[in-house]
Amino acid sequence: MKSKRVLSGVQPTGALHLGNWLGAINNWVELQKTHETFVCVVDLHALTIPHDPKALEENTLTTAALYIACGMDPDQCSIFVQSQITAHSELCWLLNCLTPVNWLERMIQYKEKSIKQGDNVSVGLLDYPVLMAADILLYDADLVPVGEDQKQHLELARDIAQQRVNAKFGDKEKPLLKIPKPLILKEGAKIMSLLDGTKKMSKSDPNENSRITLLDSPDLIAKKIKKAKTDAHLGLEFNNSTRPEANNLLGLYAMLSGLGRDVVEKECSDIGWGKFKPLLADATINAIEPIQKKYYELRNDPTELSQILTNGRFKAEEVAQETLKRVQVALGLLSTDKI
Ligand code: TRP
Repeated sequence: MKSKRVLSGVQPTGALHLGNWLGAINNWVELQKTHETFVCVVDLHALTIPHDPKALEENTLTTAALYIACGMDPDQCSIFVQSQITAHSELCWLLNCLTPVNWLERMIQYKEKSIKQGDNVSVGLLDYPVLMAADILLYDADLVPVGEDQKQHLELARDIAQQRVNAKFGDKEKPLLKIPKPLILKEGAKIMSLLDGTKKMSKSDPNENSRITLLDSPDLIAKKIKKAKTDAHLGLEFNNSTRPEANNLLGLYAMLSGLGRDVVEKECSDIGWGKFKPLLADATINAIEPIQKKYYELRNDPTELSQILTNGRFKAEEVAQETLKRVQVALGLLSTDKI
């Protein structure tokens, strides 16, 4: 019996890239072996900035299929689509009514994103972290694997659960909500942009050459690596803070080739970028090939994918409904069993 529970999710805003895979999903793949694991595609979060409905539906399926292609095993974990479990929106409303607005106004990601949106900032963008808190708290998650940039959102979820729900409506002996712990992913697993070794690889970077997605063709991968930023030194190395690109691309090569950091550091210590780039391109293409194969199998057999998402939905629904009910009762909402 797996005693600890894990929950995580990624937004369906475009194909997953190397950073999502190596930095996040790879960790889930390990965690599912020892933890009861729930992973969702957070499509409601994708509505917080302007979006295209057709693309959203397609990206939701793509993201779910890529979770599986990367090694999430539907027999070991629950994979589901956030919007299909209505308890996420329902708990979000309850938490909204307990969360001070100024806790949200000071969130770093909100400030950054709202600048980009100009005068078109939705209430949903401000509320994003409360919905995320609902995602986590609904499943009584013990651990939430997230990147460093999500740490503040995790802290908010903990504060809402502890100070606003448990302290006010809970029982000392039997807390209403479990307080989740972040599992901050290792710095080494953080993949940086191909065009700037100091910036995280991101789906929101307008320049597509900054990232390699898991669905890029071999030609496109080779092209993007050819265009990747280099520096004027000969030989690649780790830990030279003046060479962020060398650190990032050598790290990628170590992971994708499976050779590990010590081996690649020796192999590449005196080769130039011109020799290194084809090595990295080959390693990337080889590593991604089995993922694409599994991905296209799944997308060509929609009944299997929908079966997996339906099973995941049932498993998630059961846990989520139980928690929602507990909170509704504690807040004094009239239960249907009472009338
Ligand atoms: N905000 C997260 C991100 O951008 C995505 C997310 C939404 C999430 N709900 C979650 C992550 C719950 C972990 C748990 O990465």
